[in-house]
Amino acid sequence: MADPTQQTDPKDSENKLVPHRNFNLITGIHSPEEVDRIQNWEIRDSDVFAITYPKSGTIWMQQILLLIHSKGDVTATTGQLNSDSVPWIELMGSEKTFVCAPSPRLQVSHLQYRFMPLGLRQKRGKVIYVARNPKDVLVSYYHFHKYATMLQTPKNFTEFFENFMEGNVYGNCWFEHIQTWYSHRAEMNFLFLKYEDMVQDLRSVVRQMCVFLEQDLTEEQVGRVVQNSTFSTMKQNPQANYKCVSASLLDHREGTFMRKGTIGDWKNNFTVAQNEKFNRVYQEKMKDWPLSFKWDIHDNRTM
Ligand code: PPS
Repeated sequence: MADPTQQTDPKDSENKLVPHRNFNLITGIHSPEEVDRIQNWEIRDSDVFAITYPKSGTIWMQQILLLIHSKGDVTATTGQLNSDSVPWIELMGSEKTFVCAPSPRLQVSHLQYRFMPLGLRQKRGKVIYVARNPKDVLVSYYHFHKYATMLQTPKNFTEFFENFMEGNVYGNCWFEHIQTWYSHRAEMNFLFLKYEDMVQDLRSVVRQMCVFLEQDLTEEQVGRVVQNSTFSTMKQNPQANYKCVSASLLDHREGTFMRKGTIGDWKNNFTVAQNEKFNRVYQEKMKDWPLSFKWDIHDNRTM
């Protein structure tokens, strides 16, 4: 048996953030040449792209998209990992899969708007953007950095807080991500969703998605989509929770994708000073944008 003290730390691997056209890619995971080719991908009207800044509900979207297209039948999603059925387009080698996949091609991406297929701007395909309040994104992302082997473990929360505020992470600046996508929404078949609305009223969001995706589901089928995409159901579902992803990508001893799934966990992590700094930056950057978020599970107000 291998001596665990002699095993190499997976975090010593070659994955590093490398800027490409002002966007950080991860070596070994993304290829700049392949990412640049995405713009030229031929889009079909039936293509669906769920776009998220990291930690905003990507794997939740994968599960819901699959379930809507199977009319709530969870057995249709049990054959393979959700990331094989609804892949990230920016991962190395994804072009080949995309070109050959049968319709409807369901995809996710964290890329910024400028990298996306140009066909989307001619209203081909559909785009669903999911936004989450950035304080909870920051906390979720901090924990993810501890167990995702392709991302460097931060020394502490303070260090990660500053990296996030500087946009020195994969996905870059949260503000730029949401603003560029949102400002181009009229060019595309575009649906804007919020993670917090999904937490508080998943059924309404699923209904909204069905209309947008032109999927005619009965109320009973909508109920099955909801039931099979709750936090507790997904936590038990190996296709959806990524527990079986290899240790070379995720160190399962250090965390889990299905962590808390709630609104307001930032309150358990931010110091008063961090919160004040965040609020200052947020007010400054978002003051001209008609966007607001819920910051607490019990809060019905938005900011
Ligand atoms: S990634 O790595 O960017 O693809 O991560 P992503 O899937 O975008 O975000 C992970 C966070 O989403 C939460 N999640 C959910 N919340 C509520 N209900 C359901 N069903 C659900 N599925 C995923 C997950 O718990 C992560 O948030 P945190 O705050 O870390 O718990």
